[in-house]
Order: sequence, then structure tokens, then C-alpha cells
Amino acid sequence: MNTPNQLNSNKKYKVLFVCLGNICRSPAAEGIFRHIVKENGMEEHFVIDSAGTYGGHAGEHPDRRMRTAALYRGYGLTHSSRQVRSLDFLDFDLVIAMDDQNYEDLMHLAPSVEATHKIRRMASFLTTHRISYIPDPYYSGSEGFSLVLDLLEEACQNLYDKIINSEI
Ligand code: 4NP
Repeated sequence: MNTPNQLNSNKKYKVLFVCLGNICRSPAAEGIFRHIVKENGMEEHFVIDSAGTYGGHAGEHPDRRMRTAALYRGYGLTHSSRQVRSLDFLDFDLVIAMDDQNYEDLMHLAPSVEATHKIRRMASFLTTHRISYIPDPYYSGSEGFSLVLDLLEEACQNLYDKIINSEI
């Protein structure tokens, strides 16, 4: 028997996706996860956001290359970049890191041991792709953005299923 989560007690389930700049991977994860939640008519049961460990792009829209690649698959990305903060660990139920460096940075930022238990690796939700992190596409060509979207679509669907089934 799975442990009940926030959804069972009629509370919103709050998910924060985190990468380095919050202009490529995490806003794409946010947009894809929003799309899945909306498709399932569950919008009022979720709070979904994204942030970066680096604040240098704060206020910027997602990278044009990612916006174009995402829109091609039907995801409009409208997020404004912001830096992750330690208070996010109080607000969110899950804080999901795209790669190992994001994971380490979040571990250091977490205000308590309990808060570190909210941190997960996005790649841990992959089932068919054999890769342990979501690669940074910033210095890649269009194939890098396409790969990131492939990985995020699978991970987001599996994450959604786990939450709905109270497995997380
Ligand atoms: P993201 O990609 O972490 O997926 O948003 C990057 C964005 C910006 C930089 C690196 C990665 N940068 O070096 O500015």
C-alpha cells in the first residue's frame, strides 16, 4: 500500500523543476508537466514552477531555441527565469534537479535534512532512456534541444503517474 500524498488530503501537490539557468531544461519540464496536468483535468490540484541555481538570467524568457523546439511539439513556454531560494523548500513538495551539479547545489541550499528529502533527479523518472541526467543543451545544436524534450516528456509522464498513484 502506498503512503497517501497531498492529493489524498485535498491539498495541492507542488512541484519545482530546477536547472542551471532556468531558460532551457527546467522551463521546458515545467511546460511539459503543465500540459500533462491540464490534459488530465488536474490543474487545480497542482502548483508547478521552475527555477535556476544561477540567477544570471533572472527575468528572461526561455531561450529562443528551446521555445521554438517546445512549440513545435505543442508546448508554449511563458515562464520568466528566477533563481531558486531556500524558502522554496518550504513551499514545494518536490524539488527536481536536471543534473548532478543542480542536485549538489540544491543539497547545499536545502535549509534542513528534511528538506533534502524533497530533492529528486529528473532522470530517476526515466524508464526507457539510459542516461542519469538531463544534458545541458545550451552549447548544443538543435538535436540537443530535441533530446532534452524527448527525455523530459518521458520523465514528466512517469512523474505524473507516480504522484497520481501516491508512489511519491
Ligand atoms: P539551463 O541551460 O540550465 O537548462 O537553463 C543553461 C542556460 C544558461 C547557461 C547554461 C545552461 N549559461 O551558461 O548561461
